[in-house]
Amino acid sequence: MSAAPAERPAAGGPDTSGTATANILVRMTGSGTPEEHIQTEAGPRPAAAKGGVVVAVEAAGVSFAEVQMLQHLHPFPPRFPFVPGYDLVGRIVEVGPGVTGWKTGDRIAAMPRTGSWQRFVALPAKDLTEVPEELDADVAVALVANGVTAYQMLHRLTRLRPGQTVLVHGASGGVGALLTQLAVHHGLRVVATASAAKHDAVRQLGAEPLDYRAPDLAAQVRALVPGGVDAVFDHIGGRGLDVGWSMLSRSGTLVSFDSSVAGYRPGQWFRPHVPALRRTVVRFFARHLGLTGGRRMSMYYVKPGADFSADYAELCRLAAAGVLTPRIAGRHPLEHTARAVRALLDGTSIGKHVLTPGLTTAP
Ligand SMILES: NC(=O)c1ccc[n+]([C@@H]2O[C@H](COP(=O)([O-])OP(=O)(O)OC[C@H]3O[C@@H](n4cnc5c(N)ncnc54)[C@H](OP(=O)(O)O)[C@@H]3O)[C@@H](O)[C@H]2O)c1
Repeated sequence: MSAAPAERPAAGGPDTSGTATANILVRMTGSGTPEEHIQTEAGPRPAAAKGGVVVAVEAAGVSFAEVQMLQHLHPFPPRFPFVPGYDLVGRIVEVGPGVTGWKTGDRIAAMPRTGSWQRFVALPAKDLTEVPEELDADVAVALVANGVTAYQMLHRLTRLRPGQTVLVHGASGGVGALLTQLAVHHGLRVVATASAAKHDAVRQLGAEPLDYRAPDLAAQVRALVPGGVDAVFDHIGGRGLDVGWSMLSRSGTLVSFDSSVAGYRPGQWFRPHVPALRRTVVRFFARHLGLTGGRRMSMYYVKPGADFSADYAELCRLAAAGVLTPRIAGRHPLEHTARAVRALLDGTSIGKHVLTPGLTTAP
């Protein structure tokens, strides 16, 4: 195996001057492996449309959504080829006609769901949210989709009180680690799952780790919390949702925020999400007929809007105060995107992988 080329800051870093005309973009060309289907290419810099801006990207997140898109397991799969990239942080370098409230040089975050893996991105101004200058770009981007998802599930969907207990699945991952930190900060006891090799990292977040592969997971949770937990945050889906439901206290809430890790095969697209939808509907009616004993189930999907911006601002405040410390697994130039996706696919790292157009490979 040849040694990985060194990475170094690109001359001038991310181009926030607004003068560069060349774009670099990453395309996902089909379903398969990252090595086959993730490619970097050059292109023209986009222009700002009416009501839009052009942003020079400081950092773009690599998220599980892109792994799902590559495997054709995402519930809203874009058509190949496309430029992936769920979220980004950057600086406005051009403002289109009709834009008010934003100017060149402003630092912003956005969650376009696709299109962030580029040096320059054109975005509608209405979808931007402000990023404080004091935050590192990689920390700021880790708080966008992952952070807002964690925050809203905890503070908007479940409204738990300090002293209650929750089960967080995947606490070694981007969403789960932030959710665990937020829950601990809120005064909750956190039981959390991760693979055994990552239990120390989960313990350091203040949680009690268990292995999600344990066949007697529900019994282990019951042994720790005999009355059941007040919320389960589940991205496993399938029959995992029944295990989660069985762990709840009498008034507990099961939050399903994905269904992709329950062993589905690439290409099954919407199928992983059917069990979650079916169970949510059945339990909704069962609850209203008084058949669930107070337990309820909700599905969660992050979306932009006023709540998103307010919650992102609060996450930035918590990060600046040292309450939230998103762990960064790796910073990669755009040319090494396939490696970042490979690391996520193989589950070999802890924390967020970030693409940094300001890095470039050594010649
Ligand atoms: N609903 C929404 O709006 C929304 C928004 C953002 C993300 N998500 C979803 O949230 C999930 C986590 O995203 P992420 O960015 O945090 O991904 P990530 O960083 O790759 O983390 C994945 C986590 O899942 C754990 N895991 C792997 N296999 C598992 C299994 N069979 N059972 C239980 N846990 C398992 C991993 O544990 P180990 O590494 O220890 O194996 C890791 O902690 C993804 O499914 C993503 O699609 C949903």
